Amino acid sequence: MPFITLEGIDGSGKSTISSLLQERLREKGLDFIAIREPGGTPIGEKIRDLLLDPSYSISPIEEVYLYATSRAVLVREIILPALNSGKIVISERYLDSSLAYQGYGKGVPLKFIYEVNRPAIMGLYPDLTILLDIDPLLCIERLKDKKKDRIELEGLTLQKNVRYGYLKLADFYKERYLVIDATKEPQKIVKEIIEKIERLKR
Ligand code: TYD
Repeated sequence: MPFITLEGIDGSGKSTISSLLQERLREKGLDFIAIREPGGTPIGEKIRDLLLDPSYSISPIEEVYLYATSRAVLVREIILPALNSGKIVISERYLDSSLAYQGYGKGVPLKFIYEVNRPAIMGLYPDLTILLDIDPLLCIERLKDKKKDRIELEGLTLQKNVRYGYLKLADFYKERYLVIDATKEPQKIVKEIIEKIERLKR
């Protein structure tokens, strides 16, 4: 069954799209699990709290290790067993978030991020990556009333570089990427994703 990841800058609407997508998959009677990164396991949720707490100062290299650790546990405990038992897996964020945020956003060499993550993901790359692409200026408006986590507090320049990074990744991994204009109506976005999933063979 396919492993599908949702990617995009903060405020691009991943959670909204994930919930709607889950509703549609349920209606279609498809067996799936939905998770998010960082987190998704008890260890992962603790790492998430560490990573997003604005009172800590964590360097970009340290972030790479922490996100990769959360990812390693998630892959081993949740994602691989679910795929092996025939379920679709939908993850909000995965390896590409580290490449976009720590790599393109904060200047950590991509090679280093791949090296740290290779053993963590055990060869598991997504079959489909949905990039919800949006101008960070529009997201600032959307996120205005939300309490900001440590990464979000780092601001507009980071989000611009992350967006640029995602578009580069989408270009590089054309075969698995579906780039969607995130300002579109959520129902339309989900319809597009469902059509794509139905065409996927694993
Ligand atoms: P989250 O609250 O899940 O953000 P969002 O709702 O926008 O997905 O927090 C995750 C934050 O962690 C987000 O700002 C992106 C960042 N992140 C990285 O920097 N690297 C990573 O590898 C991952 C998975 C997330």
